[in-house]
Order: sequence, then C-alpha cells, then structure tokens
Amino acid sequence: MTNRGGIITGWGGYLPAGVVTNHDLAKTMDTTDEWIRNRTGISERRWSDMGPAALGVEAAKIALDMAGCGPQDIDLLVFATCSPEYILPGSSAIVQHSLGLTCGAFDLGAACSGFTYSLVAAHGLLNMGMNRILVIGSEQLSRIIDKTDRNTAILFGDGAGAVVLEACEGEGELLGFDLGVDGSAVNILYTRHDEITHMDGKEVFRRAVRAMVSSANLALERAKLTMDDIDWVIPHQANRRISEAAVSRLNWPMERTSATVETNGNTSAASIPLALVAELDAGHIKAGDHVLMCGFGAGMTWASAVLRWGGVTREGGHGAAAYAAELPS
Ligand code: ACO
Repeated sequence: MTNRGGIITGWGGYLPAGVVTNHDLAKTMDTTDEWIRNRTGISERRWSDMGPAALGVEAAKIALDMAGCGPQDIDLLVFATCSPEYILPGSSAIVQHSLGLTCGAFDLGAACSGFTYSLVAAHGLLNMGMNRILVIGSEQLSRIIDKTDRNTAILFGDGAGAVVLEACEGEGELLGFDLGVDGSAVNILYTRHDEITHMDGKEVFRRAVRAMVSSANLALERAKLTMDDIDWVIPHQANRRISEAAVSRLNWPMERTSATVETNGNTSAASIPLALVAELDAGHIKAGDHVLMCGFGAGMTWASAVLRWGGVTREGGHGAAAYAAELPS
C-alpha cells in the first residue's frame, strides 16, 4: 500500500425528461399530492425510457469534460446500479463502449448504498496504483416497479450522477468510511428477475434511521472527527422524514442537509452523487469543508463516507495536483 489518496476532479448529474408529478400519480392510483409530500417530501420524480447505461453515459460525459479527461485517461469504471439492463453482461460494459473507454469496468450492486461503496472501493484502487477512476451511480427504477402500486411508485425515480476520482500523493479527500450489510433483512426490500419491487416500507424506515446514524458515527470516529467538524451532510435521498429522523439523532440541522428527494424522488445508487453534484454546483461545499455521506439500501446495506473537500470548482483548473497541496499529507 502506498500513501496515495483520491480527489474528485469532475462531476456531472443527469436527470432525464419525463417528469411525473404527484398530481400525475393521483390520476392513476388512490393517493394525493398532499399525502405523498407529507409522508415522503417528494413532489416529483423522472420516469424515463433511457436505461441506466444511457443515463450514466450522459452524467459521465459532463464529469469527464470537467476533469479534462479523454477516454484513454480513465483506468477503471465502477458502475453502481440495482436496475441493470441485463443479468449479464453488466451495464458497465455498455457504458465502457459508449464512452470509448479502454479500461476495465465492473458493476457494483449494493442498492442505494452502491455509490458510496463504489467511491470507497475506487479509493482503494487509487491507493494500489491506478490514476483516474470514473465512478457512476445510475438507475432506471421506473422499469422495476409497478407504476400503479402506491406503496412503491410514489417513491422511486430515474437519474444518474458521476464523478472522476484522481489519485494524489498523501491522504486525499476520503478521511473515513463505514460499509455494512445485514443480510437477514433481504426480505424487506427485493426485486426478483423479471418482477417488480416488493417493499415493507415501515420496516425499511425503522431500520434505515438506525443504520444511517450508527454508520455515520463509525465513519466519523474513523476519520477522527465529530459532527462539530462537519459542514454538509448528504444522506441517501429516500424520504425526507428518514433524513430528518437520522440527522436529528446526529444533532444536525436540515438546513445543512441535502434534500434533492423533493424533485428527484429516490434514485437509489444515483441519489447521493446527484445530491453531491447539486450541492457543489450551488456552491454549498467549499475548499476544506467536511462532507458526510450516509445511506442505506436493500440488503440491507449501509455506507458512510467522510470527505474533506479539496476545493475543485466547476470553473477551476483540471487535475488533482493543484489541490493536493492543500490536503493533509
Ligand atoms: N397514498 C395514500 N395513502 C397511502 C399511500 C399512498 N401512496 N400509501 C399508503 N397509504 C395509506 C395506508 O394504506 C395507511 O392507511 P390506513 O391507516 O388506513 O391503514 C396509511 O396511508 C399509512 O400508511 P403507512 O404505510 O403507515 O405510511 P408510512 O408513514 O409508513 O409511509 C412510506 C409509507 C412512505 C412507504 C414509508 O414507510 C417509507 O418511506 N418507508 C421507507 C421506504 C424506502 O425508503 N424505501 C427505499 C429504500 S432504499 C433502496 O434500497 C431502494
């Protein structure tokens, strides 16, 4: 193991056309805009004909362009999804070809925790000698739900987020993390081949809050930080009430917590990168800020990561070298 970390030098989000509002849903199922907003914080989501590979390609193009990378500059693609086009091959193969990448690529399936799992895995591979890794979280959840089932259809949406991670000397941005799964909870949220998604929403809710809080605390402990050091929290965007319950147990205000669920719905592996992109582009995260990502998903998986933001801006220059000097060694 070398003393190499990673810095995010490019990011991009893609939300397809096909906005479905709560009012649209109320026309086809027994629900109301008021019920959905009160119980979930969601007003609209996207349902698209584009598969996760096509959505991911659009997000990745923006991230690659920003990082100043050509296809040959990328050493690996990690593609987080739980709605892949095929059982085999992985959606990552489609994306690799579409983007003209010449590197290896694999899918990572950890449901809504998939992006954070991928980010952590990618840091490990940078540490082992890779130079640039493209990490994408992308979902077409509208394909794996019953669009008339008010239990699930109100929640899930489509979209993609991508980042380019570049190696730097020293610690880099990732200061601490926690990855976990409780496989005894598979039956509370699952999708069989060629079937729609089944969910025990109440049980997911109960376990999600517990898992997010304990995982966030473990990641903080490993980063040798406390919530007093954190500047911005990016929880998995499943339900505003879940985020509120989790951050209140961390003594953290919603004002400094991402809430893209309102317009995106739950986009599973795409939810955290889409929220990260939104906060970065809104200028909410500045050089040196500590960012806590925490999420949970089917499995039941959970994943948290604490990052110290290196200071890359969309308008700024390319490459990790300029920012590495600012980071702890
Ligand atoms: N519209 C109107 N009424 C509804 C709806 C709806 N869409 N859905 C349920 N109801 C009714 C119920 O029938 C029930 O009626 P009753 O009191 O007459 O029996 C009442 O509203 C309350 O239903 P609950 O199920 O108790 O509602 P709850 O507050 O638990 O909210 C929800 C349901 C939104 C699904 C919530 O449990 C939740 O968000 N759970 C977490 C789900 C989640 O995050 N899943 C994603 C996990 S991440 C991943 O890996 C993909």
